[in-house]
Amino acid sequence: MDSPTPSGTAIANPRSAAPLASPGETRKIIAEFQDVERHYQMGSTTVKALDGVSIRIHEGEYVAIMGRSGSGKSTLLNLMGCLDRPTGGEYVLGETPVSQLDDDDLSEVRGKTIGFIFQSFNLIPQLTVLENLEVPLFYQGRVGIESRQKAEVLAKRVGLDGRLDHKPMELSGGQQQRVAIARALMNDPLFLLADEATGNLDSKTEGEILRILDELHDEGVTIVMVTHNPKVADRAERTIWLKDGYVEQVVFNRGQDGSPLRTPARSDAR
Ligand SMILES: Nc1ncnc2c1ncn2[C@@H]1O[C@H](COP(=O)(O)OP(=O)(O)O)[C@@H](O)[C@H]1O
Ligand SMILES: [Mg+2]
Repeated sequence: MDSPTPSGTAIANPRSAAPLASPGETRKIIAEFQDVERHYQMGSTTVKALDGVSIRIHEGEYVAIMGRSGSGKSTLLNLMGCLDRPTGGEYVLGETPVSQLDDDDLSEVRGKTIGFIFQSFNLIPQLTVLENLEVPLFYQGRVGIESRQKAEVLAKRVGLDGRLDHKPMELSGGQQQRVAIARALMNDPLFLLADEATGNLDSKTEGEILRILDELHDEGVTIVMVTHNPKVADRAERTIWLKDGYVEQVVFNRGQDGSPLRTPARSDAR
């Protein structure tokens, strides 16, 4: 599917000079891509899924990633989420240069610092909501009374109280995505990464999920979301447009204080 033409307060950039932050940005950098490459060798051909991407994510920011199919969005999100390593450049997560980590360290960093939300929810069907929420902590040997209490608090926060004993099959799509959001928050992640998190939902349910993400963002949670939907991207502070594995353009929707930066002609999707 082709993405629409970017609009808003656009700053068009030559390939190497996309702005790294909105003017006046003062928040701490929690993740930084420094000229990141992810090349795949396919026989004699090199597929440059990412080809020199520099991005900074600031604490508490809400960033949307857009671009046509094949532009490198999932590759970028997978690298950011430590599911994969760059083949060139460096990714610094917190203080950690990720390229240097071996597989074990990479998965440890992932388990402790990343919360993922997927389009297909990725819940475990045999487990109850409570057990699904405890999965991230289970791998760290941290399941017990505390994890149960935490699951209860988070279930309530996403509007799922009273459903802890249900299996995913007994829940609607929207409810399943709420479980996935709560699960992503169980390890107090540095940020939430969402790949088309509302792509499988009807528009009413999508609105409910986006409202939860807005609330989490208001509470200080950092969110990076891949989306095809400009209405979804409108909720973000900034949209990074990818094209052929590089940052084509960065669009600032609003400032750090939430003030709109966009042209008045553009209606707000909220
Ligand atoms: N494992 C892989 N092996 C070879 N090429 C890949 C692999 N993963 C992604 N690619 C290629 O990298 C490019 C970017 O893919 P992807 O990040 O999935 O794009 P998007 O999520 O924007 O649709 C595409 O050309 C895709 O075919
Ligand atoms: Mg993708």
